[in-house]
Amino acid sequence: MNEFSGSTNFEISDQKVTDSCPSNIALIKYWGKYENQIPANPSISYTLNLCKTNTEMAFFAGEEFSVMTFLGGNEELKFAEKIEKYFKNIREYLPWILQGRYLITTENTFPHSSGIASSASGFGAIAKCLMQLDQTFSGSSNEEEALKKASFLARLGSGSACRSLYDGLVVWGETKEVLASSDLFAIRYPNDEIHPIFKNFNDWVLLIHEGEKSVSSTVGHGLMNTNPYAQRRFQEAHENFLTLKTILKDGDMDAFIKLVEHEALTLHAMMMMSDPAFILMKTGTLAVIDKIWDFRKETDLPLFFTLDAGANVHLLFPANKDEEQIKEFIIKELIQHTQNNGVVKDVMRF
Ligand code: DP6
Repeated sequence: MNEFSGSTNFEISDQKVTDSCPSNIALIKYWGKYENQIPANPSISYTLNLCKTNTEMAFFAGEEFSVMTFLGGNEELKFAEKIEKYFKNIREYLPWILQGRYLITTENTFPHSSGIASSASGFGAIAKCLMQLDQTFSGSSNEEEALKKASFLARLGSGSACRSLYDGLVVWGETKEVLASSDLFAIRYPNDEIHPIFKNFNDWVLLIHEGEKSVSSTVGHGLMNTNPYAQRRFQEAHENFLTLKTILKDGDMDAFIKLVEHEALTLHAMMMMSDPAFILMKTGTLAVIDKIWDFRKETDLPLFFTLDAGANVHLLFPANKDEEQIKEFIIKELIQHTQNNGVVKDVMRF
């Protein structure tokens, strides 16, 4: 039993709920995990604003348990299998969950093949729908508690998804640097500890390579178990929280850029030092990084990058007076390195 164990006092009925959840991009990365989706180190991310998953969940009470899923109008058998397994896995927390049939329809506001974390927004939206059902069936109405439990449940679907439940800067994983942080769910980074310069930020995602990645995140996490550099990396993530705390408070943009880019390169360095080794960056990824570094040297403008577990480049820059010059540079110099002139423009404001 823990605080998330579900009440056995509930009454089910046919329901149709809808919800949506954005994706997120990590600044300090989660890479490596233990059993039951416990992260090997704390992470922090920006929740995106426009890149979202919208989900409709129909529940047919009392029918035999099964899940059907549709993505953008097409039936997705593999996804349905994954969700069935997930629902069975979380039954302890939602005791009614296997007592009906589900029809789940989802759509992403960003291209499916873009490599933008659809598992984060996808599981986030599903967890929110489940909590809507849970509140109806159990008669509870505490919104903060429901959000916390949604984050807890989303984590069990995909680790990084638990951070998508909150806006702004969000922390997942216990660290002594952030009060009330937990390995079990995400929390908001305290708003009054963030300099205004970090509260209005662009994230333009360059779609360098569309399509399936050669190694999934789940396999990548697993390879940290035998990576000889893993322990040092986990320790460094903790240390980076201490550094980041001061940066966020003081509004130290140069130090922010250094830390965020270091985190991205460390993530990919870990992949290269795994056994078997793998590389998810492409030629275009490296070309863009080179150009960003030259641009910064020449102009001193705050354009920088982070990377997910893929080839795409997230271009980060504050939404302020400098942004026009930066956007011009991106359009003129960087978009040419994408596969199909693909760029997804998001902006975080909180
Ligand atoms: C590189 O959350 O996709 O994006 O828990 O196995 O579903 P699972 O992995 P996932 O891993 C994300 C890794 C990352 C870094 C991050 O978002 O912190």
